[in-house]
Amino acid sequence: MYTWEQTEQMIHNCQRCSLSRTRNLPVMGRGNRAAKIMFVAEAPGAQEDRQGVPFVGPAGRVLDVLLTSIQLKRQDIYLTNIVKCHPPANRNPSPAEQEACLPFLKCETLLLHPPIIVCLGRIAAQKLIAPQYKISRQHGTWIFRKGYWMTAVYHPSAILRDSSKLEETKQDFQTILRKLQELEDQAYPPLI
Ligand code: URA
Repeated sequence: MYTWEQTEQMIHNCQRCSLSRTRNLPVMGRGNRAAKIMFVAEAPGAQEDRQGVPFVGPAGRVLDVLLTSIQLKRQDIYLTNIVKCHPPANRNPSPAEQEACLPFLKCETLLLHPPIIVCLGRIAAQKLIAPQYKISRQHGTWIFRKGYWMTAVYHPSAILRDSSKLEETKQDFQTILRKLQELEDQAYPPLI
């Protein structure tokens, strides 16, 4: 198993797919490396590519609104992407690019071992939960797999395009809060 530092180095030097030729900076996950919850989106956007940090653009502001609605901050979570390099013109990462990058997400997941994984958007949900995942029908539902509680919510960019998705996503975030509380209660059962 690799360390965080080794994972960071491997991502920094990666040439596993052609996105490495067009990226400015690869974007490794950021946040609390002891977090109970990992959010996984699809791929860095243009601003993330410039700064090497996930969700620094407009979608990040939507994510912060959602986190605040359940009293969480960036420092409380770990936030990453399926693909660590920006796809030109913001296109979806191809299946081959996702597959090439997956070992890095596996390293992050094994190192963090979060009880909860939240997919941000369809691409992450289809890669991590089920290939036929329908985000409009299944968002906010939970599965337990290989020791991880998993759910998916709309991608913050989808909320920017259609603000009517904000309220239902806030409700999905309430289910995330309840799941965190449930796991907390199991970790500290009443003494008597
Ligand atoms: N959109 C994503 O999917 N990931 C980011 O890091 C930023 C925007």
